[in-house]
Amino acid sequence: MRTPMIAGNWKMNTTVEEAVALVKDMQKELEDISNVEKLVCPPFISLKAVSELLAKSSIKVGAQNMHYEDKGAFTGEVSPLMIKDICHYVIIGHSERRQYFNDDFYINNKVKAANKYGINPILCIGEKLEENQSGLTMDVIERQLEQALAGVEHIGNLVIAYEPIWAIGTGKSASAEQANDTIGAIRQKLGSLYNNKIASTLRILYGGSANAENIAELAGQSEIDGALVGGASLKPEQYISMVKQTSAVYNKK
Ligand code: 13P
Repeated sequence: MRTPMIAGNWKMNTTVEEAVALVKDMQKELEDISNVEKLVCPPFISLKAVSELLAKSSIKVGAQNMHYEDKGAFTGEVSPLMIKDICHYVIIGHSERRQYFNDDFYINNKVKAANKYGINPILCIGEKLEENQSGLTMDVIERQLEQALAGVEHIGNLVIAYEPIWAIGTGKSASAEQANDTIGAIRQKLGSLYNNKIASTLRILYGGSANAENIAELAGQSEIDGALVGGASLKPEQYISMVKQTSAVYNKK
């Protein structure tokens, strides 16, 4: 069985002090839960402090983005070399980065760079509202997968996050059945791009207004392997509850 993951994408929130305090709140409650992978993705500036705090913890640390070059004249960017020793994961291709920072062009290189440095990529894909309403969801997603994974030979450590853009930060989550169907189709596509065996082992998360109210239903679906959580991951009681509920769901699976 795939180990579910509840990943918190903190986006551009928390100072270093706030990040450390948030993690401490979560740690007390979550350290001993072992059937769910817990991941926090604070802003770059907090990664070092948080990773030191969590050095011996069962909670893992991820970055929200990175450049694909090792170093160079890329003002304001952070390279895989700089994060590889403090991050287990890196989020790549979040829709906010695709929208505001033209990340579409760089995603394939970023996936390759993550693999090169042994940072597990969490690749975000998802359709816009009008694409969803026009029945284009799978066209968009297949294109995103093909672009992101072109020339990528090894996907064993890849995590996919299906985040329909219309569900992000809107309070309107996709229904659990809807998300499960799309994630099943994503798995099939990965099977055709690679093979069904590897596709069946990959974790595919749902993201978009996931919270303590809907996580049990989402985690109970056959294809959904947890969630990439924005707003609710900044509220310790919500995040803790989401991990605990997912743990309970998987204890019964
Ligand atoms: P919300 O959970 O705030 O909708 O954000 C989802 C998201 O973008 C996670 O990466």
